Amino acid sequence: ARPTPAPAAPETTLEGLRDAVQRCRECPIGALATQGVPGEGPQRGGVMLVGEQPGDQEDLRGRPFVGPAGQLLMRALAQAGLSREQVFLTNAVRHFKYEVRGKRRIHKTPSQAEAAACAHWLEREIALVQPRAIVALGATAARSLLQRPVAVMSERGGWHARADGLRVLVTLHPSALLRMPADEQEAALTTFTGDLGLAAALYF
Ligand code: URA
Repeated sequence: ARPTPAPAAPETTLEGLRDAVQRCRECPIGALATQGVPGEGPQRGGVMLVGEQPGDQEDLRGRPFVGPAGQLLMRALAQAGLSREQVFLTNAVRHFKYEVRGKRRIHKTPSQAEAAACAHWLEREIALVQPRAIVALGATAARSLLQRPVAVMSERGGWHARADGLRVLVTLHPSALLRMPADEQEAALTTFTGDLGLAAALYF
């Protein structure tokens, strides 16, 4: 009798995970995206920042937080005393969900079912990266990480424990700041930077 093939080995490196994500069709988003966008940054003991999903620029370039929301995040991180190189940047959902309007691809929020289908990629990344703590940027990330609905505005600015002991700091998503009217943006940015400062404090 022929031996039964060994089950596919679980990915043991971030490179393996990145390649496997490209083939993922567990929800409908992947088929329309340019590529899956994996996390990037240092492993072991740093802070991991988790967004919602790649945006237009991230989808084209294959890297997280390289578009307008990413630029705002980098400014706030710098004010909090951290650089892009010090943190691991990733997302709750690996592919860009959008609708076409004219020549533009407009971001669409992933459904709860799509985010849930994607959560195992994030969990596998967490297992490989072994962050010291995690920052959830916005409701999609917070829900994927804490496995419950999270009201960002009332739960932001504090640490929440996961069943595995990892701590998750909930804060706003930088895109939410970009969408605010100009007169609200400054105060919200100060709050956001203060939240990131709680994560930065873990480095000092
Ligand atoms: N918004 C996100 O949530 N993630 C990115 O990578 C870029 C924008």
